Amino acid sequence: PGCTTSPDKAEEIPDFKNVFDLEEMSGKVMGKDAIDYLNGGADDSKTVKANVEAYQRIQIRARRLIDVSTISTKVELFGKTLDNPIILSPVGFQKFFHPEGEIASAKASVKKKHQMIVSSVSNYSVNEIATQSQADLWFQLYPTTNREVTKKLLERAEKAGCKVCVLTVDTPVIGNRERGGTTLTKLINSKELKMGNYEGILPEGTGIDDPGLTWEIIAWLRANCNMKIVLKGIVTREDAALALEYGADGIIVSNHGGRQLESLRSTIDCLPEIVEEIDGKIPVLIDGGIRRGTDIFKALALGATAVCIGRPFCWGLGALGQEGVEIALDILKGELVRDMQLAGAASIEKITRDFVIRI
Ligand code: FNR
Repeated sequence: PGCTTSPDKAEEIPDFKNVFDLEEMSGKVMGKDAIDYLNGGADDSKTVKANVEAYQRIQIRARRLIDVSTISTKVELFGKTLDNPIILSPVGFQKFFHPEGEIASAKASVKKKHQMIVSSVSNYSVNEIATQSQADLWFQLYPTTNREVTKKLLERAEKAGCKVCVLTVDTPVIGNRERGGTTLTKLINSKELKMGNYEGILPEGTGIDDPGLTWEIIAWLRANCNMKIVLKGIVTREDAALALEYGADGIIVSNHGGRQLESLRSTIDCLPEIVEEIDGKIPVLIDGGIRRGTDIFKALALGATAVCIGRPFCWGLGALGQEGVEIALDILKGELVRDMQLAGAASIEKITRDFVIRI
């Protein structure tokens, strides 16, 4: 229902210079409701903008006469070597952007060698996505108000091969989405765009977000699954300390792409205090507002182990399905590689704090 027209296959695919070109095309191809759902934020969308704009207050200190003829973008994360540090953030209801939804994104992620995180509220189930794409997925969890149901969600994710559970901690309730909010309620109740992971296991009256969630959930998850536990949505030093105390395996500095609480700081502004608190003990990832290779470079320089991207790959999905996601990933990785060459850092480990200055 989100797609009103699809581009004529015979038509030449335009030359996309950057992810904004994909955004523009997705805006022409998708229906208004899908555009609002994808691009909208909470209240006046100030945090959405802050996430993007804050990267402009960080500048790069490039080094010269360093051999950058070969670049390695490899990173080690949770016992696995990833080809590159650009991960697909969990985004719900991807069928709203393109009929092939999460399957198209997962196939693109496999082809282009990016890690993908499947949302609890994906349209295709995590099992369908894994089977059809052969992707090695991570699962994002919204614990329901019924722990028996949550257990079944975890079982489904583990059966689909997920080794990492990304627990989203910024959604005790849904944010005030004035743009696209009614659409979200419609999506949750939609008969056409089903939430694949909940098929047959969600009794009437079970909430898909739990406002009663507290730090004890980490021990409960440990007792009920074998996945690594990563907290997504940490924005303060205090909570970074608690994440360590309660034994999380990693954190993602995130404000849900500005879709939850308005007036939060940009995520890149939150990163330094969190990196300082974590002090290398567990990986710290970040998402929100990343649109350019230089943004990725800056986040890595400020101590992120990897970054996640939400809207940019969805613009590709909305514009052209799997091919559009591939283009988005190619653009971002291509930019990162070129920026590493221009800045004088031949591998991800070499992108240290000295490469950036905050103004
Ligand atoms: C999201 N996000 C999200 N997060 C999550 O934990 N579970 C989810 O189901 C969703 N769904 C979702 C839908 C849409 C349309 C968007 C745009 C975002 C948040 C997402 O994982 C991520 O934090 C942000 O998208 C990152 O910001 P950028 O890259 O979109 O600026």
